[in-house]
Amino acid sequence: MIHPYISGIQKSIDRNQIIQMLKGALSDEFIAAQNYWMQGKLLLDGPFKEEIQKELFQHMAEERAHADWIIDRILHLSPGTENSPEIKPIDWDRLGKCRYTPAIEWDANSILTNAIAGERCATDHYAQIAEFTKLRDPVTYDLVNKIIDDEFEHIRDLSKLQEMVHERHDKIQKEKGEE
Ligand SMILES: [Fe+2]
Ligand SMILES: [Fe+2]
Repeated sequence: MIHPYISGIQKSIDRNQIIQMLKGALSDEFIAAQNYWMQGKLLLDGPFKEEIQKELFQHMAEERAHADWIIDRILHLSPGTENSPEIKPIDWDRLGKCRYTPAIEWDANSILTNAIAGERCATDHYAQIAEFTKLRDPVTYDLVNKIIDDEFEHIRDLSKLQEMVHERHDKIQKEKGEE
């Protein structure tokens, strides 16, 4: 029986594929939220530390919100336990497409570089889901596009902070050279 939420989806094979794609995205969101939180905590002292921490913690909350939207969509598409999202973190690593590999160094530049790379991977992955769902599942398509907008905003915000860090670094180097 087709659940009312998925009446627009004609083929169960499409529905299953969409659920699998969403589960990958859900895993990435969990990992991203976790990494933003940890990286915010581990960030070393340096210029703009407070601003960067604030941004990382805000991203954590927004990635959690994305996870919330995605899990609701998975449950709408598959209300039973058959496709229950994975609860164990070890499965998130297996299912995720981006993984948001943590920075090895904890300085602002390393953390921001790593976070921007993770966001770019996320937008690419969501673009693939958007492409697949465009003519198959307009509800998921709209949801994914809403998330893509947020992820692009994350890239812009992180890039702005990284630019500030670079400018400050250049200024300090220049002052050292003039001494
Ligand atoms: Fe996200
Ligand atoms: Fe993001």
